[in-house]
Amino acid sequence: MKEAQKPGLSIEECVHRLKRYHYAFKRLHQIFLDRLTAEPLYELKMAFSLHAHICAEHTTALRKRVGEMREPPLGLEAVPDQNLQWFFDEILNAPTTEELVLGLYAKAVPALKKAFERHLDQTNFLADHPTVRLCRFALLELGEMATFGTEAVESLVDSARKKSFEPWLQILDELLAAAGGLDRVDLATTNGSAPGKYRLTPHSYQRTPARDKRFPDPFNMAVNAEVFLYEPKFPPLPKTLMMFYKRLREIDVPEMMASIITETKDKPWDYYRDMTRQLWDEARHAMMGEVGFEYLGIDWPSKVMINHTWSLALNTQLKPIERHAVLYFIEQGLMPKTGKRFEWEVGLASHNPLSALFQDYDWADEVLHARIGRDWYLKEFKNPQEAVKYGDECWSRVLMNWETWRQQGLTQHRNWWPELYRTACTHWGIEPEPEVLAYSTSYQTVRADLKELTGSA
Ligand SMILES: [Fe+2]
Ligand SMILES: [Fe+2]
Ligand SMILES: [Fe+2]
Repeated sequence: MKEAQKPGLSIEECVHRLKRYHYAFKRLHQIFLDRLTAEPLYELKMAFSLHAHICAEHTTALRKRVGEMREPPLGLEAVPDQNLQWFFDEILNAPTTEELVLGLYAKAVPALKKAFERHLDQTNFLADHPTVRLCRFALLELGEMATFGTEAVESLVDSARKKSFEPWLQILDELLAAAGGLDRVDLATTNGSAPGKYRLTPHSYQRTPARDKRFPDPFNMAVNAEVFLYEPKFPPLPKTLMMFYKRLREIDVPEMMASIITETKDKPWDYYRDMTRQLWDEARHAMMGEVGFEYLGIDWPSKVMINHTWSLALNTQLKPIERHAVLYFIEQGLMPKTGKRFEWEVGLASHNPLSALFQDYDWADEVLHARIGRDWYLKEFKNPQEAVKYGDECWSRVLMNWETWRQQGLTQHRNWWPELYRTACTHWGIEPEPEVLAYSTSYQTVRADLKELTGSA
């Protein structure tokens, strides 16, 4: 009874605050995606994928709630506070990974957490219960983000470096103070705003993917996983290696999708939400591959050459809609008998429980992605046939400079398969099969969908 008689927040005050939380989540979502592709560190790439997804989901929930409060969901695209805009612009523009991580996890996430905690503290639980639920769920995931962020900062930024960033962190604090905190509750009487530092230089999106040292041969296209996988003479067990490799290679999909989402403007919000969900699924698939190799005791960075050629080529050679076309073309091709069901059956037949489990979920996720493609890509075309044809055309236009890369010394296209297979055989306690060991089909002339490439580029 005491709780229910609390004065609480008026609808007007509540909506006002919700719009600011909404803005914060939307800007965080934008920053995570904007910085994901060019971020070399594997763990951060994966975390940015998850955190972008989390922010997109809470943005969606907040939009819905605002629409329930005698307020059409209008004005949600407006900037609620100039100082908040500058605060997030500073972080978006941060020149180093260290500053980016500090800005995101030491400043923005805690500020948002504090705002939600205060909302729960001040609002009337009975009158404003739908918002209360929303705050609780947001806090749950913001707490996870903060925990990860604290560890990330600890392992990436030593104290001397952190000291050198103090003046900039001070700017962030001042901008936040001038905004009165994320919820405007701490608004001081002095309303002067900080000058800012990085926001003053125009921001340009970096669409070239970067990888860390666990990806030592990023142009290597020596091992064609699909040709091996669909070859009936090969047994299921070594095929699980090819599937873990394929999963881990899906790291290039978030890198590519982040560029589509970042460079496609003025779509309905649900477009960004759905595309970001898919992006996170693809990051998850990559981690399934990582876990698969870990399970077999295989040091994948030295044994499996995960390339970045697909995201590199698409991001630098195609327009956003053309990239989406290629993605749609590939994903709708995964659905027939030869696609995802087949991979799952191979996983079952191999008796590797993780392979079967991961393929099961990979398949379900990819079915969802085909639906997302129908909802957002297909709509741009008169009929599905045309949309598929366009995707095929766009993919065929992409140049994979196999020979040029070799001549430039970017890769030797070393066939790493025999060594990986031998290592796995040691783990399994079996002798390598000569025919499997001798496998040496590359991507030079056969594309991942098994289409023969005519050009030698
Ligand atoms: Fe995928
Ligand atoms: Fe997948
Ligand atoms: Fe997918």
